[in-house]
Amino acid sequence: MLELPGLIDPHVHLREPGGTHKEDFDSGTSAALAGGFTTVLAMPNTLPPLTDSSSLEMARSAAASKARCDYGLFLGAGEGNTTSARPLASQTCGLKVYMDQTYGELCMQSLPALIEHFRRWPLSKPIACHAEGHSLAVVLALAHLYQRQVHICHVSQAVEIQLIRLAKERGTLVTCEVTPHHLFLSQEDATGLGQGRSEVRPRLATPADVAALWSALDVIDCIATDHAPHTLEEKDGPEPPPGFPGLETALPLMLTAVSEGRLDLDAVIQRLHVNPGRIYDIPHQADTSVTVDPDASWEVRGEDLYSRCGWTPFEGMKLKGRVTHVQLRGANVFGEGQVTAPPGFGHDLATQPIEA
Ligand code: NCD
Ligand code: ZN
Ligand code: ZN
Ligand code: ZN
Repeated sequence: MLELPGLIDPHVHLREPGGTHKEDFDSGTSAALAGGFTTVLAMPNTLPPLTDSSSLEMARSAAASKARCDYGLFLGAGEGNTTSARPLASQTCGLKVYMDQTYGELCMQSLPALIEHFRRWPLSKPIACHAEGHSLAVVLALAHLYQRQVHICHVSQAVEIQLIRLAKERGTLVTCEVTPHHLFLSQEDATGLGQGRSEVRPRLATPADVAALWSALDVIDCIATDHAPHTLEEKDGPEPPPGFPGLETALPLMLTAVSEGRLDLDAVIQRLHVNPGRIYDIPHQADTSVTVDPDASWEVRGEDLYSRCGWTPFEGMKLKGRVTHVQLRGANVFGEGQVTAPPGFGHDLATQPIEA
C-alpha cells in the first residue's frame, strides 16, 4: 500500500445551480473522494453562471450543505462584471475566463472587457483561462503585458504546450494543466466512443499532440480532470454537450502510467497535489491521506461510479492502481468502496483560516 497526500483537482464542473440532474455538490464530491481528491475547485459555467454575488451565494449555500470534500468556487468573467468582480474575489479561488465557445453561456468576446479583468482582478488570485489555439496567444500576451499570473486550463495540442514552454522561458507568469483524457485518448478513440460521447472541449487531439504532451511533462504543472459530467441521454441525444467525467479515473490512470514506467510517483504527486496547492494557495489539510493499492488491477465501469452521469470515456479500460481508503481531517471518508463523509463535511476554502 502507498500513502499519498489528499489530491487537489483545480478544475471540476459540479453543475450546481441549474444542472443537478447531471451532478451536484453531493454526488460530485462523493466522486472526488472515491477518486482520492480531498479538494476540488468548481467552475462557474452553471445555470445561472456564477458571475455575481447572488449566483455565487446560490452555489455557496448548496455546497455548504452538500459537499463531502473541501472546495473552492471560481467566479466567471463576463462583460457585465468587470468592476463588480474584484470585491467578490475573497469569496472565490480565482477568476475563470472562457475565451472560446464551450458548454454554458460564458464566453469572453470583448477585448476591452478582458483587459479590464486583467487590470482589476487581484494579483493574489489566479485567472484561469479556457484558451485554445489563437486564444492562448492572446492570454499569454496579456499576462506578459499586465505582469500577472495566468493558469491555462486543459492544454491539448503540441503547439499550445510549445507556446507555454516558451512563455515560461521568457518569464511570463504562466502555469498550466492537462487532463487525463488528453493524455490517454486521441482522435483515434473517437469512433469507438461514438460521436456524442467523444464530444469534449478541447476536442480529442491527434496522436502526435498526445505524444507532445507526454514529452513536455516538465511544462505541465497540474493534472486536472475537467470533470464535466453530462448524462448518457444527453451524450447520445441529437445535440450532445461536450464534456467527460474524470474524478474517479484520474489517479488510477496516472498510477497505471507509473506502473508502465512512463513517469514516477513523485511526478504524479507534484501534479495532483503540490502544484495545484501552490498555484491556488490551498491550505494544508491536517491528518489527510489517500491510501492506494498500486498492484490492484481492475476494469473501469461507468455504472460503478459515484458521478451521477453514469458513464465514462474509459469504459472497459484495464487499470493498475486503485484508491482503497481516504482520510480527511482525521475522519475516514472513503473505504471498502463506500464514501462515508456526510454531506456538509466539506469546507469552503474561502472561509477557512490557514492551518499550521
Ligand atoms: C465543460 C463543461 O461541460 O462544462 N465541457 C468540456 O467539454 N470540457 C466546459 C469546459 O471545461 O470547457
Ligand atoms: Zn474549458
Ligand atoms: Zn471545464
Ligand atoms: Zn502537501
